[in-house]
Amino acid sequence: MLAAELERSGAGPASVVLPGADLAAAVAALPASSEPRRVLHAWGRTMFTGTAASAARQVDDGFMPLFHLVGELLRSGGKGPVHLLCGYPAVDAGAPGYEALGGFLRTAQRENPRFAHRLADLPEGEFAELIEGRGPAAARLAAELPDLPGAPEQVRYRSGGREVRRWTRVSPPFVARPDALRTGGTYLVTGGAGGLGALVARWLAETASARVVLAGRSPLGPAAEAVLAQVHDAGGEARYVPADISTMEGAEAAVRAAREAYGELHGVFHAAGVLRDGFLVNLDAAQVAAVLAPKVAGALHLDAATRSEPLDFFCLFASLAGPIGSVAQAGYAYANSFLDAFAGWRERQRAAGLRSGRTTSIDWPLWADGGMAVDDEVRESLLRHFGMRPLDTTDGLRALATVLDNVTGQIAYLPGDGSRLAAQLAGEPESPPPPASLEEPATAPRRNRKRSWCGC
Ligand SMILES: NC(=O)c1ccc[n+]([C@@H]2O[C@H](COP(=O)([O-])OP(=O)(O)OC[C@H]3O[C@@H](n4cnc5c(N)ncnc54)[C@H](OP(=O)(O)O)[C@@H]3O)[C@@H](O)[C@H]2O)c1
Repeated sequence: MLAAELERSGAGPASVVLPGADLAAAVAALPASSEPRRVLHAWGRTMFTGTAASAARQVDDGFMPLFHLVGELLRSGGKGPVHLLCGYPAVDAGAPGYEALGGFLRTAQRENPRFAHRLADLPEGEFAELIEGRGPAAARLAAELPDLPGAPEQVRYRSGGREVRRWTRVSPPFVARPDALRTGGTYLVTGGAGGLGALVARWLAETASARVVLAGRSPLGPAAEAVLAQVHDAGGEARYVPADISTMEGAEAAVRAAREAYGELHGVFHAAGVLRDGFLVNLDAAQVAAVLAPKVAGALHLDAATRSEPLDFFCLFASLAGPIGSVAQAGYAYANSFLDAFAGWRERQRAAGLRSGRTTSIDWPLWADGGMAVDDEVRESLLRHFGMRPLDTTDGLRALATVLDNVTGQIAYLPGDGSRLAAQLAGEPESPPPPASLEEPATAPRRNRKRSWCGC
């Protein structure tokens, strides 16, 4: 029925990929010519309940089939455009494992500009009917497909209406010392011995004489010891706890360590992460799973371990790789988009009185002094395509202060000539890029440097 509906709508022949479909056969059935190859993917069937298990099921029945489908499409050797429409079921509280598919698809498109995509969020009941071959969703999706390529990237159907997801520019006032931090407060920093974790830990000590618990999988070693010493020198207290927060035991151990050492926990900075880069055509599921673990399972286990804590904030370190895609980082882009969507879900739990502490997911650009470094080629590409230079530490920590006091949900911070990227995200017409140079004029006073914020 769906295939017939698509054909009738003028979208032309399309492959329909529903749960259990043979992906290789679906790809083989597509035209080999230079005609656009159209695919409707509607596989996920799990409702997100806030548990790591339900997120894992959304990864398994939403992300992994799409990951394998895109791999098949890439390996099939076709040269023409590929138009991918992904339908998924969602409730108003959200479906982070499916909403995050956009990060993956944007990466597929960056690696292969012939890919175009759209995500369509359907009410749970309509989605179930679609899989059974009935209901109004088939016509809705059929109407989306002929529109590709082109904006919007994400739509949702609710109460009979169609809504489009958009970014908006926001201008929060810059904050030096956030009110959100308590003097002598206790903060958990996952990935605390890593590049950004160490910067945040030292800043917490300098700014609020904080008591900081650093968590990482490695045993205490020279890197973590150096961070502990820096925190002490900056006027704070710190402990390191070896804990893998992608497990419930690890997340609980980290939270317990904070409580046992300092009595209570006031805030969480979730900065744990790993990279396993590779182009999609070669990327394997094990690489992807390694990247997802600290972000997807990690965020959920930390949330569960802190749900009874009177937190002031729950701050997730995500990346612009999610909203803009990132070549050779398909799993990383998905994992960061998951954090963005999860922040929205946790905020709704907070509104219902089920969590405390404002949730934010910050889509950071590249930091100059972070641990996850990139080579000069990537830096130049960021500058050329987006007008962005690596974020310096002072600017980044001020942005963090600003977020803690002013922001809930997903936020992107765009330094340098960030207005170009902000315009792209907000779907505004682009002005021609200025000449790109990695050298920033030495005379540019800090207050005049351009920066932009975008919120979702
Ligand atoms: N650096 C940037 O420019 C940048 C830009 C955008 C976003 N971000 C985000 O910011 C965060 C921090 O980046 P970074 O540059 O500081 O990275 P980093 O230096 O590689 O540090 C990441 C830390 O996470 C820890 N970690 C990984 N898996 C863990 C797990 N399962 N449980 C506990 N700890 C775990 C690692 O320690 P162990 O190996 O000991 O576990 C490591 O110290 C990341 O999430 C990244 O995605 C960074």
